[in-house]
Amino acid sequence: MTKTMQLSNGVSMPQLGFGVFQIPTHADAKQATLQAIKAGYRLIDTAAAYMNERAVGEAIRESGVARDELFITTKLWVQDMGYEATQKAIDGSLARLGLDYLDLYLIHQPLNDVYGSWRAMEEAYDAGKLKAIGVANFENDRLQDLMMNSRIQPMVNQIELHPFNAQFDRVQWLQDHGVFAEAWGPFAEGKQHIFTNPVIQGIATNHGKTNGQVILRWLTQRGIVVIPKSVHESRIIENAAIDDFELTAAEMATMRTLDQQESLFGDMHDPETVAALGSVHFDYDQQ
Ligand SMILES: NC(=O)c1ccc[n+]([C@@H]2O[C@H](COP(=O)([O-])OP(=O)(O)OC[C@H]3O[C@@H](n4cnc5c(N)ncnc54)[C@H](OP(=O)(O)O)[C@@H]3O)[C@@H](O)[C@H]2O)c1
Repeated sequence: MTKTMQLSNGVSMPQLGFGVFQIPTHADAKQATLQAIKAGYRLIDTAAAYMNERAVGEAIRESGVARDELFITTKLWVQDMGYEATQKAIDGSLARLGLDYLDLYLIHQPLNDVYGSWRAMEEAYDAGKLKAIGVANFENDRLQDLMMNSRIQPMVNQIELHPFNAQFDRVQWLQDHGVFAEAWGPFAEGKQHIFTNPVIQGIATNHGKTNGQVILRWLTQRGIVVIPKSVHESRIIENAAIDDFELTAAEMATMRTLDQQESLFGDMHDPETVAALGSVHFDYDQQ
């Protein structure tokens, strides 16, 4: 299976993980997670807002894989920002997952009381409840400010990253500052016919691989962590088979021509996006 990378605090993080966003039913989320663990994935990426922490927890227990071989990530939703609310949210996620620690805990959006939440996360880190802490969807300027006002530096930034939004400068800055870039939406959730894109297909043919495998390989060769999602076992297996080939420098350069240099999922600088994200509320007991 894919290699692990070492976070700035020495914790090992697998470079390939499994994402569980937008799996509507408990049964499907549990089954997909079980299939992923069976296929060799060791990193599972969930979030309080995905409303499937309980399903993921059941899959972890039923998988038979030892806890210390797994790397479990979950995320703090906007409604739980602030010092005390974050303390409760961490304990809530741990209870729903049935775990006594998380390998990685991320602030899901750069909204609301980031600094109060970060202080609660630092304390949970000190207490051993969180083995690593980080953020998602933070622009580098916000991250710089957080780094200047934190005792413990963020270890990961999970951001939108795929061939159509390749984020070369942003990733370089993160890598220069000791923060791991983790790609969400590595397949752009299938937008713009990515799985049949002819440029990617040309490279895939060279290696006897699929578009999905080429995309994941292109990201991992850039030193990025990937967390593709699928509810189909054949695709779960396919997406993990990326260790037996390597893109050439010319192929890496060809992939770069696909970059449109903008998000396909909304603009965090748009007040309407912030208003929409900031008003989504979840009842975690309804899962
Ligand atoms: N931090 C954040 O704000 C944030 C935002 C979005 C996502 N994420 C995380 O990142 C993970 C991945 O992103 P994502 O789920 O949004 O999208 P994604 O992984 O880019 O794409 C998932 C889509 O691709 C399809 N697919 C997967 N493998 C395929 C293959 N080999 N061939 C053809 N189709 C394939 C899936 O369909 P099937 O399932 O039907 O196979 C699904 O429709 C999420 O699950 C979540 O953990 C985080």
